[in-house]
Amino acid sequence: MALRVAFLGCGGIANAHMRSLAKAGGGKMVAFCDADEARAAKAAQDFGGKPYTEFDKMLQAEALDVLWVCLPPFAHEGQEIKAARKGIHLFVEKPVSLSMDYAGEVAKAIAKAGILSCVGYQIRYCPHVTEARKILKGHRIDMVAARYMCDMTGMKGWWPVMAKSGGQVVEQSTHALDLMRYLAGDVLNVYARYAQRAVVGQPHWDVPDNHVLAMDLACGGLATLHSSASIGGWDAGVRIFCDDLDVDCTFSALRVVRGNETREIRSAGDPMVIQDGNFLAAIRKGRQDMVRSSYADAVKTLAVTLAANESAAKGQPVSL
Ligand SMILES: NC(=O)c1ccc[n+]([C@@H]2O[C@H](COP(=O)([O-])OP(=O)(O)OC[C@H]3O[C@@H](n4cnc5c(N)ncnc54)[C@H](O)[C@@H]3O)[C@@H](O)[C@H]2O)c1
Repeated sequence: MALRVAFLGCGGIANAHMRSLAKAGGGKMVAFCDADEARAAKAAQDFGGKPYTEFDKMLQAEALDVLWVCLPPFAHEGQEIKAARKGIHLFVEKPVSLSMDYAGEVAKAIAKAGILSCVGYQIRYCPHVTEARKILKGHRIDMVAARYMCDMTGMKGWWPVMAKSGGQVVEQSTHALDLMRYLAGDVLNVYARYAQRAVVGQPHWDVPDNHVLAMDLACGGLATLHSSASIGGWDAGVRIFCDDLDVDCTFSALRVVRGNETREIRSAGDPMVIQDGNFLAAIRKGRQDMVRSSYADAVKTLAVTLAANESAAKGQPVSL
């Protein structure tokens, strides 16, 4: 029987998940909650099911198997804990919160309830990333250069407000840092320098737009992240320098250089469809090990990004 799926937050990314779930199959979308009544109504009309503007009412009225939490970073206020207590499996969009204390409480509630969790680091599901993990196995990683470069200078709403989004490193470049963690392992400490270069003196914008992070990795290697919200074009990925390999893994392709030999692999498939379908399959089988990014693991990526913000504010390295 199809799993009964509800949405909390029916904005941009939620609609992408709704389309993915429709493609992946295995789930029946039955309820849609958004503070904006028109958005909930539109989702219900497009995908079937009932619209809600109050989360508690939806939780009370619907028998749900899984909840897709697609709230902006500042709007996590205990909804995951309420769902976990009812035994509802949780998909949560990154970043899972702006507070380590809050994220820790949700992680505890998930563990206590014994439910499955998945966080929206869909790049982990790209076939070329699976290949990169295989290729890197057993190699000594000496250095990682991660990057997230794009132009966000036209953004309005919650994104350019530090208290609401956490800034680019927390909200966006988190994908590059998470990919780095997936391929090269955990981070021990971070020293960050931030600058505001492109958007200055605008009342709707208080986030830095250029960022450099230096990190020590648990494997003994060194890492950096260059993250810009003011550079045209789009480029994101991690370049990993090993004993005898140079591996550049972007969000859509892999290039592996060993001596004079270069191998290039382009990704295939839509990682969001793969991720969402996989989460439903994992729930059906009761297998958290099928999920590549659990809530508890995503909290570790959040910790790196929040430590970077702290380091930039203090002008000192921060240990994790
Ligand atoms: N995985 C990815 O690649 C990816 C891509 C884009 C966004 N995201 C993440 O998804 C999350 C949502 O981003 P978005 O772009 O969809 O934002 P959005 O602003 O388009 O949508 C958010 C929706 O949540 C609703 N909302 C806000 N507070 C609410 C509350 N308390 N109760 C109910 N509804 C509420 C808003 O009305 C809005 O419709 C963010 O954390 C973002 O970082 C992930």
